[in-house]
Amino acid sequence: MNIILREMKIEDIDQVLMIEEESFSTPWSKDAFINEVRDNVLAIYIVVEVDGEIVGYGGFWRILDEAHITNIAVKKEYRGKGMGNILVMGIVDYCEKNNIPNITLEVRLSNTTAQNLYRKHKFTSHGIRPGYYTDNGEDAVIMWRKMD
Ligand SMILES: CC(C)(COP(=O)(O)OP(=O)(O)OC[C@H]1O[C@@H](n2cnc3c(N)ncnc32)[C@H](O)[C@@H]1OP(=O)(O)O)[C@@H](O)C(=O)NCCC(=O)NCCS
Repeated sequence: MNIILREMKIEDIDQVLMIEEESFSTPWSKDAFINEVRDNVLAIYIVVEVDGEIVGYGGFWRILDEAHITNIAVKKEYRGKGMGNILVMGIVDYCEKNNIPNITLEVRLSNTTAQNLYRKHKFTSHGIRPGYYTDNGEDAVIMWRKMD
């Protein structure tokens, strides 16, 4: 199995969109991804490839000394195989090398799988945004990872 982590390109977006649509109840559109990859100078997106197939992706916005993770998702049939770990490690590694000491994200209160993933990588909970998700009014847990 040949696993590669690399920056997302415009040509990747069709594959990324399929993962996005099976992963989120309010998926981003193709245009949203194109805008992020092509036009948003603050945005950094990565993909993980297994034998040439994109099986996961993640991204964040760099805002001064903070990285705000926007989304991370793994293709259903590849979940539970360490791809989420590879993506979070890729983001943390990028931040460490580029002097971005603080990383934050919001995650659904019910999404304990993702919370476990982030906790494993030293993110901790720092409060709740009540009713943050507009589709069902669910609260978001705010998580931060602060480098020592
Ligand atoms: C969250 C997600 C990215 C995890 O990706 P993954 O490739 O399955 O994760 P990994 O196999 O690398 O597992 C990493 C850690 O996540 C947690 N985890 C993964 N699957 C889990 C499960 N079924 N139950 C509980 N915790 C789980 C564990 O802490 C695991 O650590 P371990 O390997 O020591 O057990 C994936 O489930 C996903 O795409 N979910 C839908 C989209 C989503 O919710 N994204 C996050 C939005 S904030």
